[in-house]
Amino acid sequence: MATLYVILLTLHNLVRWLVLLAGVWALLRSFRGVGGVQTFTSTDRGAVAMFMSSLHLQVVLGLLLFAYLGMQHVPAFAGARPSFQWEHVGLGLLAAVFATLGNALTKRAAGNQAKFRTAALWTVLSLVTVLLAIPWWRPLLRLFA
Ligand code: HEM
Repeated sequence: MATLYVILLTLHNLVRWLVLLAGVWALLRSFRGVGGVQTFTSTDRGAVAMFMSSLHLQVVLGLLLFAYLGMQHVPAFAGARPSFQWEHVGLGLLAAVFATLGNALTKRAAGNQAKFRTAALWTVLSLVTVLLAIPWWRPLLRLFA
């Protein structure tokens, strides 16, 4: 069963980079149009949706990890300050909520400018929350070890 932990932890570790790349891509796409006359294209829409989906995947992996450790009666983030596990879970969920709101509100916003501004605002909020949630002292890259 320890193998399952290593597999989930490795995927959670790697998906963090997918989240960050998708977030930066969504940010670049949305700031490109703020204050300009560009049309909000399907590529811009896709960037916002991809960022949200990567966060949803990360939350699912995190919940599985958390449940697995709980079933083994092993504390998550052993050695870190005790409140960190709740900060990590809370901030991770909040980041996913911000990205989901961003995706939904961008769809509903009327006009190109409103879409670019809405996408930029929620992507910044979500990305900053992700950066605060990440335990940066843990391995930057884990490959099934
Ligand atoms: C913004 C979303 C998230 C990001 C970017 C993120 C990132 C990370 C990273 C980089 C690690 C360390 C991986 C390693 O040591 O190789 C980690 C560990 C972990 N995360 Fe997340 N996480 C997120 C959300 C969540 C959520 C929502 C939960 C739970 C519901 C969660 C539960 C865990 C658990 C249980 C661990 C392992 C702790 C341990 O091994 O002691 N994460 N996370």
